[in-house]
Amino acid sequence: HATVPVVVAIDGPAGSGKSSVSRATARALGFAYLDTGASYRALAWNLLDKRVDPSVPDAVVASLGDFDFAIGTDPDAYFVRVGATDVTEAIREPRVTGAVSAVARIPEVRSWLTERFRSIMRDTAFDGIVAEGRDITTVVAPDAPVRILLTADEEARMARRSKELTGESAAAVGEALRTRDQADSRVVDFMKAADGVTTVDSTHLDFEQTVSAVVGVVNDRVART
Ligand code: DC
Repeated sequence: HATVPVVVAIDGPAGSGKSSVSRATARALGFAYLDTGASYRALAWNLLDKRVDPSVPDAVVASLGDFDFAIGTDPDAYFVRVGATDVTEAIREPRVTGAVSAVARIPEVRSWLTERFRSIMRDTAFDGIVAEGRDITTVVAPDAPVRILLTADEEARMARRSKELTGESAAAVGEALRTRDQADSRVVDFMKAADGVTTVDSTHLDFEQTVSAVVGVVNDRVART
């Protein structure tokens, strides 16, 4: 394309509604959508599949050489594949969620995936791309024209998560969420906005209102650059 794609960087904790809001925002703007967490999950899935211990950094780093993953960035055709296997659903399984923080803690894994994310953003055929994760506003795309931290009170995030995962007790869901956020925030601080990052707090907003707020920030920012 003629111009550089517009990058919209969105970070936030688990249960903030980040993925669904980011995807809807991409759709509203006619942009691509990049779910970076899904890429970390795909790697964790692949390690479990190959019976590589995710908590042994050397083994994980050695396995990056044949980690062949693909992720769909059309918001209307989302998929995640490892080799020929479609893992779109499988990467959401609790065993993957349980392994992914250990994988995401390894610096070589982060820099390897960060390079992949940057080339996906650069090469997109869309006019722009909404990239979502934990370190997009700070590490992956610190120069993005639009950077947003999507937050919500812990109570609101727990309530949303329990609605998604029927059959699990609210207490168990809350505990799992807290444990993962603690593990993840030791690696990157996604709980407070870095300099120049706009916070959108969705605690008192419904889904549509949150998407409107995010789209509003994008339009406002892009108009000013
Ligand atoms: O958003 P998610 O729950 O699908 O993310 C899965 C894991 O990947 C999460 O435990 C944190 C990690 N992650 C990360 O460290 N950096 C990112 N940019 C995205 C996700």
